[in-house]
Amino acid sequence: MSASRSVLLIIGGGIAAYKCLELIRRLKDHGIASRCILTKAGEAFVTPLSVSSLAGERCYSDLFSLTDEADIGHIALSRSTDLIVVAPATADLIAKMATGLANDLASTALLATDKRILIAPAMNPRMWEHPATRRNMAQLEKDGVLVVGPNSGAMAERGENGPGRMAEPLEILAAIERALAGDMAAQPRAIGFLGRTPGGAAIAQKPLAGKHVLVTSGPTYEPIDPVRYIANRSSGKQGHAIAAAAAAAGASVTLVSGPVGLPDPDGVTTIHVESAREMLAATEAALPADIAIFAAAVADWRVADAAPEKMKKGTSGTPALALVENPDILATVAHRKTGRPALVVGFAAETENVIDYARAKLARKGCDLIVANDVGGTGVMGGDSNTVHLVTRDGVETWPTLAKEEVASRLIAHLAGLTGVSKAGA
Ligand code: CTP
Repeated sequence: MSASRSVLLIIGGGIAAYKCLELIRRLKDHGIASRCILTKAGEAFVTPLSVSSLAGERCYSDLFSLTDEADIGHIALSRSTDLIVVAPATADLIAKMATGLANDLASTALLATDKRILIAPAMNPRMWEHPATRRNMAQLEKDGVLVVGPNSGAMAERGENGPGRMAEPLEILAAIERALAGDMAAQPRAIGFLGRTPGGAAIAQKPLAGKHVLVTSGPTYEPIDPVRYIANRSSGKQGHAIAAAAAAAGASVTLVSGPVGLPDPDGVTTIHVESAREMLAATEAALPADIAIFAAAVADWRVADAAPEKMKKGTSGTPALALVENPDILATVAHRKTGRPALVVGFAAETENVIDYARAKLARKGCDLIVANDVGGTGVMGGDSNTVHLVTRDGVETWPTLAKEEVASRLIAHLAGLTGVSKAGA
């Protein structure tokens, strides 16, 4: 292997194995060589020929092949690498790792290695949630195994939905970059994909270098008079975390923020506004942008005639507030004929029919992707975690409940992937 960084990729037997072909290609693009072990079950999903053609060297599968031993022994195979990656990590492979079984080349290499191991689990949601898998995962985490994913969403099996979808190749790539960077030096965590991984290190590459990302965040205040206003419960935590994650990914970031109790994120140009109309003006002034993310909870209405002086009780009875609709900032930018950002992302805060309303919003507002979340009941607004669904014209991807920073990092990695590939939903 001539590249300076390398991984040993163990491809398990699951439908997600096909995604490893793209992963190998992306690793190569990033200067990371991959040597591959294909399990017997993996061979049912991808062929050794396609794996070796992409990896640029032979694909290993048989523990007892003399040629393999003459060529490179399984001990050497497991150690002549910077990181071992197991993708898809099936329930079977996870169980073998947790108990230390070594009855084929993959499990033997995993037991014999002195390198870190990153797994990308993939299985049916019931298998993922089974107490046996929970026990095995707890053991692996105790053993210091790194984990990326799984994501939630529709399964290959008809009608099945839930956690168990293997992380996307770009997410695995980002996790590999972090794991490799972590091997070299302990750095603060900037973009996180390894949900349950201790420590963590800054992502080595800057996937949004050279891009301008525009983010709106927080609530808007709509004045009733000089001292009173209409507002909502948005804390700005999610929008600010997105701006910070975009900056960590190398973008130049403009954050247009309504009134929040948060500090301006480091390395981000923050413009403070109060009302929806000010937010629209600041947003349009910040264009052009490559990616625009509208995380602000903009007040839908403002008072038609805000009083110039403080309204006093008892002068003319209880005041009736006449409201007029505010401009829709997201729709205005998404429908621009010229200077529309390549990717326009909206949020949908809903208390019911989350996915259906998000789909309708996607079409109505003309954006490429909607990040939908259920704000009914529990404290999403102002809280620290979020359960989101990524809604595009092509489908819905549901993520597990994650810290808002983690949602931000994943969203930025997802968008970085889309800007490099194609427009979402196009
Ligand atoms: N949005 C905006 N300008 C507005 C209202 C909303 O830019 N005047 C953006 C938000 O930042 C978010 C998306 O539109 O990205 C959806 O916001 P949401 O409040 O869920 O939708 P509304 O358009 O307000 O629709 P409704 O209240 O009917 O659900």
